[in-house]
Amino acid sequence: MSETMRKKEPSPDLNNLEPDNLHRATIEYYNLRQVHGDMPHKVHRGSTLDLPAEQARMVRDSQEAMRGRRVLEVASGTGSATREIAMTAVSVTGIEIAPNMLRIAAADDNPTNVSYLAGDAFDLGTIAPGKRFDGGFAAGFLHTCPASRYAEFLHGFQARLEEGSVVFMRSSRPTSPDAVSRLFRVNGFVDQFMTRQLSDGSEYVMVENDPTEDDLRRIFEPLSQHLRVHIGNYWWWIRYELP
Ligand SMILES: C[S@@+](CC[C@H](N)C(=O)[O-])C[C@H]1O[C@@H](n2cnc3c(N)ncnc32)[C@H](O)[C@@H]1O
Repeated sequence: MSETMRKKEPSPDLNNLEPDNLHRATIEYYNLRQVHGDMPHKVHRGSTLDLPAEQARMVRDSQEAMRGRRVLEVASGTGSATREIAMTAVSVTGIEIAPNMLRIAAADDNPTNVSYLAGDAFDLGTIAPGKRFDGGFAAGFLHTCPASRYAEFLHGFQARLEEGSVVFMRSSRPTSPDAVSRLFRVNGFVDQFMTRQLSDGSEYVMVENDPTEDDLRRIFEPLSQHLRVHIGNYWWWIRYELP
């Protein structure tokens, strides 16, 4: 595909880019993706020799950050990252909004220190009442969160964490040729968007932000201390502490 074609903006229905509609599309997409067994990257992304080492480092950093912590995880999906951090955490409570994701996660072979609850990352106030958390974790969530909802999400998330909690967030980066070909921007919107398709023919427009180190520092520095940022070729991740 030529560069001009690849960069061409689709003509999205602007209504689809409203936060409520993005929220709905994100849930519908993830609820069905695993049911269809679809993978996000259908086109081979070329040489990825450094991918296993980057992933191993990210998992190691996640596990170190959550070591000995009672973790509140948002957007736990099928629980793959949940089970990784459960190896070092005291406990992990995964919050997930898509019912099929929750079902798949619960059906897996989970360690006894893991539990899953249905819930919305933007509405954590009444989830797991009475439970206390000193670790916060989100894998593959922030890149789909509209920038206009960062403050709302972080305020609610951090309100559930005790003083001195450690937070770890990580997301994949849309760097493969396939992902890049589906990215677009729209005048007047801060976010970057991506079109996604499932094998049943359904199509979704979702936020797909790829923050720089400066972006992450601007968002997180005012509400954290000891912020560490890592931008890799395939993922970014951050670790910080709450005052
Ligand atoms: C890219 S997947 C990541 C899943 C898992 N954390 C992992 O790393 O494999 C994103 C997940 O976030 C969930 N999700 C999206 N928006 C959410 C929200 N507002 N509240 C809770 N979960 C949400 C989706 O349903 C999906 O399971």
